[in-house]
Amino acid sequence: MKTIKIGVLGLGTVGSGVVRLLQDNAQKITDITGCELKVKTVVVRDVTAPRNVDLTGIELTDDFNKVLLDDEIQIVVEVMGTIETARTYIKQLLAKHKHVVTANKDLIALHGPELSALAKENHCDLFYEASVAGGIPILRTIVNSFAADQVESVLGIVNGTTNFILTQMTQNGLSYAQALQLAQEKGFAEADPTNDVAGKDAAYKMIILTQFAFGKDLTLTDVKLEGIENVAVEDIKEAANLGYTIKLLGIADLKNDKLDVSVGPVLIPAKNPLAAIQNENNAVLVTGKAVGETMFYGSGAGELPTANSVLSDIIAVTKDIVMETTGNRFNSYSNNVALAPASE
Ligand code: NDP
Ligand code: HSE
Repeated sequence: MKTIKIGVLGLGTVGSGVVRLLQDNAQKITDITGCELKVKTVVVRDVTAPRNVDLTGIELTDDFNKVLLDDEIQIVVEVMGTIETARTYIKQLLAKHKHVVTANKDLIALHGPELSALAKENHCDLFYEASVAGGIPILRTIVNSFAADQVESVLGIVNGTTNFILTQMTQNGLSYAQALQLAQEKGFAEADPTNDVAGKDAAYKMIILTQFAFGKDLTLTDVKLEGIENVAVEDIKEAANLGYTIKLLGIADLKNDKLDVSVGPVLIPAKNPLAAIQNENNAVLVTGKAVGETMFYGSGAGELPTANSVLSDIIAVTKDIVMETTGNRFNSYSNNVALAPASE
C-alpha cells in the first residue's frame, strides 16, 4: 500500500485537530483512498511548548526546510496563519511540486489568484476549504453543485467569533470583553482577534466566496466594512424589544451585472432562520437563478470542525495523487478506490 507523507506548518487549534483527526480516522481514510496517510513533520515556532496531541513518530521542528527539502513529503498543510511568511512558504512548496492545503483566509483573499496560478503551473493542488465557514463544506459545494447555475447572491454569518460574542452578550449577559475572552479561550478567534471583531475576517471570507460564486477577484477596499466593536448590550436589548436580533452579516449581491459586497451588523427579524444561528455556528445562504435559495449551516470555527474541512482537502489531494500515479479513478459516491489501491 502507498504511504503518503504529510508536512504540517502550525500546531495550534487547527493543526492539533488535523493531527488528531488523521490519527483517529486513519483506518477509514485508508479504506477510502487506498493509501496510508502519515504526518511526518510538524513545523512550529517553539519546539519546547507543551502540545496536547500524540506526536509519536512525528518530528517537531522549527525548521521549515525540514518540510520543504524532504522529497518524501507530498502534501503540506499550512495552518500557522500570517500572510507574508505563509505566502513565501507556499510559493516555495509549490515550486517544489508539493500539494498544499491551507485554512488561511487572509492569505487566500489577498493572494489566492497568484498562488492558484503557481499551483497550476507546477501541476499541484492548492485547496482551502477550511478558509471559509470552518466546518461547512461551502467552497466545494459552490464549485460542484452550482456549476450549472448562476449564483445571484451569497450571504450569511461567516465569522464564528463575532456570532459567539453577540450570542453570549444576548443570552448570558456577558460583557463584550468577557465574551471575546471566552471565544479566544475556545480557539475560535484569530491569534490577533482584531480582524474578527472589525469584520475583516468576514470580509476576507466574502472575497473568497465571491471568487467562487461570481468568478470575480475583489480586494478589501471593494468591501463595505463595519465590525461589531460599537455594538453595545443596550443596542442588543433594544433590538430584542423590537423583535430583532443583531448579527454580523456578509452579503454579496449581483444585480444588473453590479456586484455589491458588504460586511456589517444587521438587524435580523427574530423569525428569520439566521436569527437562530447561535455561538460559533455559521450559516451561508446561496441563491441560484435555477435552484433558488439554499442554506448551509454548521460550526464556523474551532479545532475539529475546521480540521475536518482540512482533512476533506487532504483526501481530495490524495485521490488526485492516486489518479495521477495509477490512472485509477474514484467513484465519488462509493467509499472505495474504484479500481485498485495505488501501488508504490
Ligand atoms: P493558532 O494561533 O492556534 O496556531 C498557530 C500555529 O502556527 C502555532 O502552532 C504556532 O507555533 C505556529 N506558527 C505561527 N507562526 C509560525 C511561523 N512563522 N513558523 C512556524 N510556525 C508558526 O492558530 P489557529 O490554529 O487558530 O489558526 C491557524 C490558521 O487557520 C489561521 O490561518 C486561521 O485563520 C485559520 N483558521 C482558524 C480557525 C479556528 O477556528 N481557529 C478556523 C478556520 C481557519 P507555536 O505553537 O510554536 O506558537
Ligand atoms: N476566527 C475565525 C472565526 C475562525 O471566528 O470565524 C474561523 O475562520
